[in-house]
Amino acid sequence: MTEIAVQVDHVSKSFRLYHERNQSLKSAIMRGRTSVHEDFWALDDVTFDVPTGSTFGLIGSNGSGKSTLLKCLAKIYFPNKGEITPFGRIAAMLEVGSGFHTELSGRENIFLNGSILGMTKKEVTSKFDEIVEFSGVEQFIDQPVKNYSSGMYVRLGFAIAINVDPDILVVDEVLAVGDAEFQEKCLQKFRDFRTAGKTVILVSHDMGSISTMCDQAAWLRNGQLVVAGPADSTIKAYTDSFSTGSGDPATSGDTEG
Ligand SMILES: Nc1ncnc2c1ncn2[C@@H]1O[C@H](COP(=O)(O)OP(=O)(O)O)[C@@H](O)[C@H]1O
Ligand SMILES: [Mg+2]
Repeated sequence: MTEIAVQVDHVSKSFRLYHERNQSLKSAIMRGRTSVHEDFWALDDVTFDVPTGSTFGLIGSNGSGKSTLLKCLAKIYFPNKGEITPFGRIAAMLEVGSGFHTELSGRENIFLNGSILGMTKKEVTSKFDEIVEFSGVEQFIDQPVKNYSSGMYVRLGFAIAINVDPDILVVDEVLAVGDAEFQEKCLQKFRDFRTAGKTVILVSHDMGSISTMCDQAAWLRNGQLVVAGPADSTIKAYTDSFSTGSGDPATSGDTEG
């Protein structure tokens, strides 16, 4: 039996969408206190296991719920129904800048983020040089991060997340922001993680990198799980769906962050 790193058990997550926001004051008064909204299910009864030591890809078109699921894993969102059970320490690298305080310097953000991710001050101090070196932002480490480029943000955020030494590393499609050299460093880190028997969960638009890096994958469509299993067959099912037309309509991408 394979050990499980994360158990996703019948997870649903809804967002409340409000309508008629921009109507006139008069009609707002006429309508009274009732607000017009609908519940939109970004995740709908999703169940799968992430095996320990796997590099697990999450695929699906824009708006299919990938980032929402990662945010549930990172406890930024809480599912309305169902449960996510991690077995080990999770560190997440989500959207650009999430977790950073823009007025603080890179140095201050390393300490702040480290402590949010569960490291003691002593631990952060001992890893500080390594984090800065990996990030490649030495020269700007005492500048407020609001002056950083998005590439610098991502490099620093990733450097912190991997140095927390998590059991489970969760990465949204931020790596694409980095340059080729940084991406190669990240790939090497993923390989080290894997060698150490740790688990990586990752979202990418690039099926090439998913198939090179991942041994397992799950495909989400409109918030529902289509299939989870070996990466190759999951990717094939997903890409085949484009040609047969049974997959996602090419969604607008208006929600992609
Ligand atoms: N905070 C939010 N409020 C309302 N709707 C949201 C919110 N976050 C995500 N959504 C919606 O949930 C759906 C899934 O989004 P997301 O998880 O970001 O998709 P993906 O990462 O697969 O592109 C989208 O339709 C998006 O508009
Ligand atoms: Mg996303």
